[in-house]
Amino acid sequence: MEVPIALLPGDGVGPEVVNAAVQVLNTIAAKYNHVFTYKEALFGIAAINATGSPFPEETRDVCGEAVAVLMGAVGGPAGSTPPGSPRPEQGLLALRKEFGCFANLRPVKTWDALLDQIPVKPEIVRGTDILFVRELTGGIYFGVRHEVEGEIDLSGREEAYDTMEYAPYEVARIAEVAFKAALQRDKRVTSVDKANVLASSRLWRRVVDIVAKDYPDVTLDHQLVDSFAMRIITQPTAWDVVVTGNMFGDILSDEASVLAGSLGMLPSASLNESGYGIYEPVHGSAPDIAGQGIANPIATILSAAMLLRHTLGLDEEAVAIEKAVTAALDNKARTADIAQGGPYISTAEMTAAIIDAL
Ligand code: IPM
Ligand code: MN
Repeated sequence: MEVPIALLPGDGVGPEVVNAAVQVLNTIAAKYNHVFTYKEALFGIAAINATGSPFPEETRDVCGEAVAVLMGAVGGPAGSTPPGSPRPEQGLLALRKEFGCFANLRPVKTWDALLDQIPVKPEIVRGTDILFVRELTGGIYFGVRHEVEGEIDLSGREEAYDTMEYAPYEVARIAEVAFKAALQRDKRVTSVDKANVLASSRLWRRVVDIVAKDYPDVTLDHQLVDSFAMRIITQPTAWDVVVTGNMFGDILSDEASVLAGSLGMLPSASLNESGYGIYEPVHGSAPDIAGQGIANPIATILSAAMLLRHTLGLDEEAVAIEKAVTAALDNKARTADIAQGGPYISTAEMTAAIIDAL
C-alpha cells in the first residue's frame, strides 16, 4: 500500500533537514517493505514570493491528499518578504488550523551522550524524559485581535490586543490526549496555567480536573507557569506528561530544549482527531546557517519517526530510527550545535551515520 506524504521544506535550513529525513524514511521503506510517496509543495517565504500567500491553495490540496505532512521550517530574516505581504508564520498557523491539528506532542529527553553539552549539572538532568502536550489551535494565538497599523502616536490611545480564549471542549480534548499518553508512560500529568491571574486559565484548570476523573490511575498536579518555568530546570526529572495552552507550551518547549542538549534535537507531532499529522522540528529556519549543510537533521529525523508511530502505527520502525539516532550519538557523531565548539560533521554526514546505524 502506498503511503502519500506531503513535504513542505519551507525556508532556511528546512529543505536540508527535510531531505535528510526523507533519506531515513526511504531506508525504513526498503528495510521494512513500505512504499512512501512524496509530493512537495511551496510553503513560507518561497510561497509568498511565488503566490503572495505563505500557504497557497495548491499546497493545501497537496496536504489534503496526504496522510501526513513532513515540514521543515518557515521564516527568515527581516526583509525577506515584500513589505505589506503576509508573514510566513501565518502560513504555519493556517496549516495547523486547516487540518484541525490541535494536539502538539513535543517529547524532550536527555541523551546520555550529550550530558556534557547541557548547562545543567549532569546529576540533575540525567534521565529527563518529558512529553509536552501543547494545545495548538486555540488560546491567544487564535483569539480576537487588533493590530495598530501605520505610524504610532506615542501619546495615542489605539490599542493592539490579542485575547486568550478557551472553550471547554478545546481544553477537554487536549487533556484527554495528555491523560492517554500518561497511561503509556509514568502515569503522571502536570497541567500548567496561570490560574492565579487569568480567567481562561481558571476554566482550563476546572476542565482538566473534570477530565482527570476518567483517569483514576493517573496522578494530576497543577503548576503555575512562572514557577514551573523555574522548576523545569531545577527539577527536570520530576515531570512526565506536561499539558498546557498554546503560548505557554511554545515558550516552555523552547526552554526545555536546553535539557535535550540543543533545540536541534527536538521533534514534534501535531495531530488531529483522526490521526492526521503535521511533523516538524521544534527549531526554526535558522537563516544564519541556512545553505551551509551544517544544520542538525536529528529533530526532523525524529519527527519522521513520530510520523511512523502516530499516523501510521509503525512503532517498530519508529523505535528503529530512535535507536539509530542514539547509536550515532554514542559513536560521537556531532553536528555543530552539539559539538561544544569542537570538530563537527555536516548534515549529510550525520544523516549517513544514522542510516548506517539503521
Ligand atoms: C513553534 C514556532 C511557531 C509557534 C511559530 C513559527 C509560529 O515557534 O512551532 O513553536 O509559535 O507555534
Ligand atoms: Mn516556538
